[in-house]
Amino acid sequence: REREMAEEVILGFLEKNDEISDSGDFASKRGIDHQELTNIIKSLHGFRFVDAQDIKRERWVLTEEGRTYAAAGSPEVQVFLVIPREGISLVVLQRKMDPAVFKIGRSQAIKNQWLEMGKQLVTKKVQNVQDNVKDMLTRVQNGEVIDPKEIDALKRRKLIAPQTWKGYSVRKGPNYAPKRKKFATDLTRDNLQRGDWKDMEFKEYNFSAKGQPIEGGHLHALLKVRQQFKMIFLQMGFEEMPTNNFVESSFWNFDALFQPQQHPARDSHDTFFLQVPPTTKFLPEDYVERVKRVHEFGGYGSRGYEYDWKREEANKNLLRTHTTAVSSRMLYRLHRNEAVDRTHLAEFHQIEGLVCDRGLTLGDLIGVFNDFFSRLGMSKLKFKPAYNPYTEPSMEIFGYHEGLRKWVEIGNSGMFRPEMLLPMGLPEDVRVIAWGLSLERPTMILYGIDNIRDLFGHKVDLSLIKKNPLCRIGIE
Ligand code: PHE
Repeated sequence: REREMAEEVILGFLEKNDEISDSGDFASKRGIDHQELTNIIKSLHGFRFVDAQDIKRERWVLTEEGRTYAAAGSPEVQVFLVIPREGISLVVLQRKMDPAVFKIGRSQAIKNQWLEMGKQLVTKKVQNVQDNVKDMLTRVQNGEVIDPKEIDALKRRKLIAPQTWKGYSVRKGPNYAPKRKKFATDLTRDNLQRGDWKDMEFKEYNFSAKGQPIEGGHLHALLKVRQQFKMIFLQMGFEEMPTNNFVESSFWNFDALFQPQQHPARDSHDTFFLQVPPTTKFLPEDYVERVKRVHEFGGYGSRGYEYDWKREEANKNLLRTHTTAVSSRMLYRLHRNEAVDRTHLAEFHQIEGLVCDRGLTLGDLIGVFNDFFSRLGMSKLKFKPAYNPYTEPSMEIFGYHEGLRKWVEIGNSGMFRPEMLLPMGLPEDVRVIAWGLSLERPTMILYGIDNIRDLFGHKVDLSLIKKNPLCRIGIE
């Protein structure tokens, strides 16, 4: 409605006058928003109802700093007003004021010769001052003409900045009519029955208009980065482990990893134990015996934990607390020379991996990460010593998040302890480097997402997933 009225005002004005010389004046005199008015002029110009010529004007506007002084007074006056008649010590004065206001205000007030900077006290040299800066700023704000010298002073203090104002002068165009004719966009049954279609003028087709966005499936960023993780590890020569056993016994989840039975992670507050079925049916007995022994008495050069190891504790079923439970099973099977069972991968967000060979070192572990993450396009990595019951040394991996401007943990790793490996029967000189990587954290880094809740869970923004590029072009 408003738009139509403004359109009528323009066309009506041109019926009696040659020209709207300045759209800015025209809009403010009639209380029309200038932006709205220029939109209408552009549209009328497009249909050649009117002929519009650009007008550009340089004008001054307040910067953010300028706006605060226009409201609260210049810093020099603010400083001046805080100083009592008998003077004040510089330290107390400083404490009373906003640091930025104080810093600028003090030096300006000294420059203006308003203050006497004594050894002990700051005192006033004059009784009253005039806030010229605030006055000038207010006048600029109101669009009043002000002295070039004043402009210069405000400009030097970065309180004002030039801005180009754009408007139009408008005259009748070749298609001018005092009222814009409405073109029909649809031909209806009524038009046909009434016969008024004969006099209707139709809007032309716009063949270059964009169509409706196509609805379709979209891959979540996590799925795309997961695929990339997988492909990179496969390219590096890794094989997949079956990770579909979400229910695991405490034995493979903890005991086999040399995690003592009284470890806090094993109590019911931190782990979900199963009621049905409460315990596992099968464990390899000779290996269980060696695990028990290494917990209780040590061996292989270790003192062990020196406690009473209980079989019932190891039998308890739980929801796998980490994918390292899969690693312990795989390592054991690897040694038993059983074929790897290639079950399909269920969804999981911890990327577990290990390398088992003679003479591996922590340097190999670091090398795997540098190689893997640089292929992913993340080269800023840091490593930090950490603790796991089943690895020594242990090492956390950090990646640099440019958006958050900080290092975020992206994985945990280490070299499996001999107390874990030797009961399995692995040869003594075999070392295993292993890790559990996060999928979410690297995805956040790669997609510049700074809140993990934007990525996964019930608060995830579906339109964000649609708008994500199909693939990321690496920046490194
Ligand atoms: N299980 C560890 C975790 O959940 C990851 C890890 C795997 C650490 C292998 C060391 C070795 O954080």
